[in-house]
Amino acid sequence: MNYPKTRLRRLRYNLNIREMFEDVSINKSDLIQPIFITDGHNVKNEIKGLDKQFQLSIDNCLNFCSELLELGLKNIILFGVSEQKDENGDIACSHNSIIPKAIKKIKEKFGDKLLVIADVCNCSYTNHGHCGTITNDEVDNDLTIQTLAKQSITLAEAGADVIAPSDMMDGRVQLIRNELDKKGFEKIPIFPYSVKYASSFYGPFRNAVDNIPKKGNRKSYQMNFKNSKEFIREIEQDLNEGADAVIIKPALAYLDIIREVKVKFNVPIIAYNVSGEYSMVKAAAQKQYIDELEIILEIISSMKRAGADAIISYHSIEVVKYLNKTDV
Ligand code: PBG
Repeated sequence: MNYPKTRLRRLRYNLNIREMFEDVSINKSDLIQPIFITDGHNVKNEIKGLDKQFQLSIDNCLNFCSELLELGLKNIILFGVSEQKDENGDIACSHNSIIPKAIKKIKEKFGDKLLVIADVCNCSYTNHGHCGTITNDEVDNDLTIQTLAKQSITLAEAGADVIAPSDMMDGRVQLIRNELDKKGFEKIPIFPYSVKYASSFYGPFRNAVDNIPKKGNRKSYQMNFKNSKEFIREIEQDLNEGADAVIIKPALAYLDIIREVKVKFNVPIIAYNVSGEYSMVKAAAQKQYIDELEIILEIISSMKRAGADAIISYHSIEVVKYLNKTDV
C-alpha cells in the first residue's frame, strides 16, 4: 500500500499517538554518575573541560551522594585522583589508597542504597601515566593484571559492589574472577570495559585524574577505532572469562558497536557517555548554539535505542532532574 492511502504521518499526528508508539525510554535506574575522589578535607575543585563536575574529598563526596539519592540517582562509579603515585600503581592496592577509603565511608553511610562501581585501573596511580607496569618501554600485560587483581581485592574488601576493569589488558577478567572467588567474593560482579577505543574523547577525564602518559600513548592496549571487527573477540574473551555485563566506550561515536553487541551477544550493555562527549555539549550550549537539555535527552535516548541497558554519564543529574519534573 502506498501514498496517498498510506500516510506515515498519521501516527505522528498528535502527542498521544506519538507517545503511544514510543519504545525507547530513559529510567533513573539506567543512569550511573561518575565521581572523582581526592585527598583532603572540604575539597571541591571544578574539573577543566568538565563544567559542574568536581574532584571531591571524601566528606564532600558523602554530601554529594546524599544529593544523588534525594534525586533518585542510585548508581555511582568511582575514580581516584591520587597525589601518591608509584612505578606500578601499587599504591592502589593499599587500604589507605583514596578509593578504598572512600568506599568504606560511602558504604558505612548508605549501605545498599547506593550501588558502588569501582573502576579498576593503574593509570591514576602510576608516575608515568600508563595503565600498567612498564618493562622495556612497553606496558607488560602479565605483570599488570597481577596488580589489577590485587587492586580489585582491596576494592571488594572495602565494600565495592561491582568491579569494573578499564585497562584493556588480556586475561584480567579471568584473573580478577579467580582471585575474587578465592577470597569469598563470588557474588561480586565484574563489568569490564570490554570495548574501549583509543579515543580523543577522553581528554577532559585525563585532566581530572592526571593520567596523561608522560611518554607514548595507549594505542598498544586500547582498541583501534578503524578496526570494525576486533570488538567481537574482545567481548567473546571477556564473556568466556566471566564478565557479567560489558562496558562500551566511548558511546556517541560508537553507537554502531553498541548495536552490534546487542544483536550478537546476550549480555547487558553499559554505554559510557565519556568526558569529551559531555564537554562538546557544554561548550556548544555555552555559546547558545544548541538547546542543551533537548540535545542531552536526544543523545542519551540514542544510546538506549542502540541497545544500551544502562549509561555512565556526567549528564545523569540533568537527566534525572528532567525525569523528576515530568514524572507525575
Ligand atoms: C582509564 C579510564 C579512562 C576513562 C575512564 N577510565 C580513559 C583513559 O584515560 O584512557 C575515560 C572516561 C571519560 O573520558 O569520561 N583507565
